[in-house]
Amino acid sequence: MLKETLINATEAGAAVLKHYFTSKNLKISNKEGINNLVTEADHAADKAIMDTIAETFPDHFILSEESGETSSSSEYKWIIDPIDGTVNYAHGIPLCCVSIGIEKAGKMVMGAVYNPFLNEFFFAERGTGSTLNGEPIHVSTKNAVIDACLVTGFPYTYLDMPNGPLDVFSRFIRKGVPVRRLGSAAIDLCWVAAGRFDGFYEHKLQAWDSAAGFLIVEEAGGRVTDFTGSYYSPYQPQIVATNGLIHDEVVQWIQGNVN
Ligand code: IPD
Ligand code: CA
Ligand code: CA
Repeated sequence: MLKETLINATEAGAAVLKHYFTSKNLKISNKEGINNLVTEADHAADKAIMDTIAETFPDHFILSEESGETSSSSEYKWIIDPIDGTVNYAHGIPLCCVSIGIEKAGKMVMGAVYNPFLNEFFFAERGTGSTLNGEPIHVSTKNAVIDACLVTGFPYTYLDMPNGPLDVFSRFIRKGVPVRRLGSAAIDLCWVAAGRFDGFYEHKLQAWDSAAGFLIVEEAGGRVTDFTGSYYSPYQPQIVATNGLIHDEVVQWIQGNVN
């Protein structure tokens, strides 16, 4: 029932994304920072997702980017990003998705990320692996950063500090390591899980950006930590997610220990 509801809620949100995508008059407003956008589609997708969950699990805890937290004594918590990649979405760039993770007693147990424009539905349940459209996926086998293709993202605020987003990005780029920027952390993570990227890092994410994706990477055989290589929690900002083989090396590059 949990899995079915997760899939239904993700699909309900994605249907809203598709509906508004071609709208010529999409209402767009700004949150904190320049170009930190939110659209009417974010709110409508959020509502479709919340309504679907509430039909089956009205007592579950919810943490949503657009509607905040509900308080509940349930051990289940749904962590929702109705559109991850809103800037892409608002520009008609089809790299965006619905991302929903489910925690049970503080541990991520299930996650779904769906990009309806590429028709890519990523799913993971703890202990059972990750899938893309129902087929098992696995991280890549590259074993050196210099041969890797990485992906990152940049926060809307906070860029120029030692070892900050621009510093680390330029360190990789100057050495010739390709680092892409798709604009959706959830998709970045899923593409690591699918072996398209060998690693992803970002300095400042929120729980809803990574909740589903980090489980999808782990269940695809990858490794996810903070910037020191320690235990990852989606409630802290920094994330490194790789195929595992290049993980320690990526952490060294991020920390500035590689010349
Ligand atoms: C953003 C995306 C982006 C990341 C930002 C996030 P949003 O989420 O995941 O890739 O770099 O830090 O805020 O605003 O599109 O939901
Ligand atoms: Ca997001
Ligand atoms: Ca969002």
